[in-house]
Amino acid sequence: MTIQTFDHTRTLARELAARVLARIERQPALVLGLPTGRTPLPFYEALREQTRVRGTRWADVRTFNLDEFVGLPPDHPGRYRAYMERELFQAVGVSAERAGFLDGNAPDLEAECRRYERAIADAGGIDVMVLGIGANGHIGFNEPGDGLMAFTHRAQLQPATRLANASLFGGDVEQVPHEALSMGMTTILRARAIVLMATGEEKADAVARMLGGPVTTKLPASFLQLHPEVTVLLDPAASPR
Ligand code: F6R
Repeated sequence: MTIQTFDHTRTLARELAARVLARIERQPALVLGLPTGRTPLPFYEALREQTRVRGTRWADVRTFNLDEFVGLPPDHPGRYRAYMERELFQAVGVSAERAGFLDGNAPDLEAECRRYERAIADAGGIDVMVLGIGANGHIGFNEPGDGLMAFTHRAQLQPATRLANASLFGGDVEQVPHEALSMGMTTILRARAIVLMATGEEKADAVARMLGGPVTTKLPASFLQLHPEVTVLLDPAASPR
């Protein structure tokens, strides 16, 4: 793994945005895997700004988001689709047909997970997968446990993960769904390149274990040690001491 520490979250976000846009300019039909959450907000802001300045064309880019809540109404602002529209897609011009999402309202959720795996394969696989990390070491909604799911699946969210998402629900953790659909570990590890961003002190322990501990289902991000092309971008607070 390549580890890079930046003096400030904003510097990290700007640098990653510049790298992603340079890659899109070289490879206009890039397939990107994308996270939601708090960590990527400065990255999406930098992508919006730099896309405007550089005039980068997103028309042929395809995206696949990592995960989505189960059971939220189509117009609910807490849906990750709504987050992505707000934070990135409207501003840079990623159309609904080119933005892959799991449908947490599909009548058959298992079939929906299989559809997503096929859609990623039909797009030629993910070129660059951008990840955040939970304080408990989860990636996507692959939570620590006795086992991990390989492919896109239905996931039960742990209390800490629901709490971390409460801001999307007016701060009310009771409103956060108990279930989500998520890419699995193999779905993530099949990406050609992976970039993980971690900022803030609450991530330092998970980052240290991800980088230096054993590969274990108790810390799903540790599986990234098995991938040949992972870059970890950190701010000073999240860096191992
Ligand atoms: C969200 C996702 C999650 C987050 C993680 C960190 O799509 O995949 O694994 O990356 O929960 O969230 P923040 O960035 O809010 O700390």
